[in-house]
Amino acid sequence: MALAYDPRSVDGETLDALLYDHLNSWGVSDTFYLDFVMGAENVLDVGCGTGTILSRARSEGHAGRLCGLDPDPAMLDQARESDAAEWLLAPAAEASWKGEFDLAIMSGNAFQCLLDDETTRASLAAIHRALVAGGRFVFDTRNPAMHEWRTWNPEDPFEIVDPLGEPMRIYQEAGEPDAHGVVALKARFEAGYWEQPLVASCGLRFISPEALDRHLTANGFTVEHRFGAWDETPFDPGNSRSIITVVRAV
Ligand SMILES: C[S@@+](CC[C@H](N)C(=O)[O-])C[C@H]1O[C@@H](n2cnc3c(N)ncnc32)[C@H](O)[C@@H]1O
Repeated sequence: MALAYDPRSVDGETLDALLYDHLNSWGVSDTFYLDFVMGAENVLDVGCGTGTILSRARSEGHAGRLCGLDPDPAMLDQARESDAAEWLLAPAAEASWKGEFDLAIMSGNAFQCLLDDETTRASLAAIHRALVAGGRFVFDTRNPAMHEWRTWNPEDPFEIVDPLGEPMRIYQEAGEPDAHGVVALKARFEAGYWEQPLVASCGLRFISPEALDRHLTANGFTVEHRFGAWDETPFDPGNSRSIITVVRAV
């Protein structure tokens, strides 16, 4: 895929998006979602990012409707390099489809970008509206009980080779969650071609399974499965890294 931007001349947020595929190669979580996508006719990928899952589904012969939605222009510009799907620039809460999809997915912990109760409510309501009756929504979010943000610290940088083939060093830094479970995350990028490091910041909400279920019930979803790992191990509140949930719109 061609580079949508030159890493030497972007801001930190755009660089973060540009490096996304570089840092997140295809993995078991993508295969988990791909199986659902290949088994559905009309699919909405909420927070589709660079569009990897829908593009793979099309290349593997998916013949139905594939639609990806994401509010980040730099992520969506990369998705738009492919004509595998319809791509829409918008947050979940602004999705206006009514009864058009039999599956919605929200992969790669994109659910953690819903930073407060009102955004979560409005996003789930829009996803529910977009689904046919009985349609499924599959998504994952990190389990707050595992305190994973404590492993994101500047003492533990990682070195990569950037998309231009140049060495780059990435330092991550995360605080403790605020009263709403939101962890502020900062990434600092250092490469030889910048005088100053570039910085990207975001918030990620860590929601408990109990709070999640209250939101799901209030927005007309019933939980069909809850896994704690991509091999479909059942969710264990004290040990599972992820809360992977399959719900149906009732
Ligand atoms: C970690 S990325 C995951 C991308 C992709 N789903 C994947 O599996 O690779 C999270 C994505 O969620 C998107 N996002 C942020 N806020 C969102 C919102 N309110 N509604 C939908 N997507 C959102 C971000 O722009 C980003 O592309």
